[in-house]
Amino acid sequence: MAKNDVKRIGILTGGGDCAGLNAVISSVVRAGIPMGYEFVGIQKGWEGILDPPMLRPLTLADVRGISHEGGTMLRTTNRGRFAAKVGEGGVSRVPDETLKSVAKNMKANDIDALIVIGGDGTLTGALQLMELTGVKVVGVPKTIDNDLSGTDRTFGFSSAVEIVREELGRIHTTAASHDRVIFVETMGRHAGWIALYGGVAGGANGILLPEFPFETEDLVRFLRSRVKAGKNSAVIVVAEGAKIGGTLATKTSGTSTSEAQLGGAAERVMAAVKAASNDDEFEMRAVVLGHIQRGGGPNAEDHIISRAYGVAAIEAVHDGKFGCMVSLRGNAMATVPIAEATGELKVVKTDDPVYVAAKKIGVYMGGKA
Ligand code: F6P
Repeated sequence: MAKNDVKRIGILTGGGDCAGLNAVISSVVRAGIPMGYEFVGIQKGWEGILDPPMLRPLTLADVRGISHEGGTMLRTTNRGRFAAKVGEGGVSRVPDETLKSVAKNMKANDIDALIVIGGDGTLTGALQLMELTGVKVVGVPKTIDNDLSGTDRTFGFSSAVEIVREELGRIHTTAASHDRVIFVETMGRHAGWIALYGGVAGGANGILLPEFPFETEDLVRFLRSRVKAGKNSAVIVVAEGAKIGGTLATKTSGTSTSEAQLGGAAERVMAAVKAASNDDEFEMRAVVLGHIQRGGGPNAEDHIISRAYGVAAIEAVHDGKFGCMVSLRGNAMATVPIAEATGELKVVKTDDPVYVAAKKIGVYMGGKA
């Protein structure tokens, strides 16, 4: 039985969906029921525990057969009244009344603790909630972006990378058939992990990351060097947060209740290359992979780590490790303070082995070509 007055636990999924969410939910419930816990599903992220609460039962029967399915059975949102990250990466304070109404609704529904499955924004909200109201929270690191500190991997990332790899394979054959340069936009906000890993796995000729601004002239020089070498096509991966010079290539829009929406980076890079090259020198197209990267069920790696994360989360509740996020460290599960995980975005650095490898094998990564 529970060691710390926790009997009934609420589970919520917040932020953008990704592959593996249902596997985490199912693992928490399947491991937790024999330990003596009861579960309630909170629907649509934090919205489901604000007024009016949107709760649903979570029994063994409810989670049977869901682990391989994409999306989240609890539904989610990356906007609304609990937006803790607004605009370009800035932290915003969730109003105290909103935080307090979570605590009130938990009490009214006999929910003793929360397992919060989310990324940077969702977990930043969890931290604010815990600090103000003392609500017991354990976090699980979810995001295709892989940009949370304190863990080697977030679940959802590997599946997204695999999708990028597959799509690049298709784009290569059409680019080569038409002697075209195709710019392929990937997600990842201000971190380039999906672009880097997906790009390397999919044989991209160039990868433009938010972390390493590039100059259009250098990219044009690189494309010309390929033509000179008899390679008449190129596939260039453009992270949605890529920067031309120091400036975000993408157009952004944000509201007071949502983080900035990014998009259009591949189009913009293509337009910049067009402006900096001769008329008809390159035949170019731009492709946005978009939400394809988030949809569908988990690949093997994500399915497995989601299972492990779910079990680690209920064990963390059992051990009273509130305020912590479960994390993957090498081959082991660990816990880290949520404050540490959300304090600084994990971005690609110059000593990252995949980044180093890409450069050494001649992938254009920005800089002089
Ligand atoms: O954070 C996950 C993510 O998929 C980002 O990579 C992307 O910028 C964003 O969500 C897209 O969100 P939306 O679903 O609002 O378009």
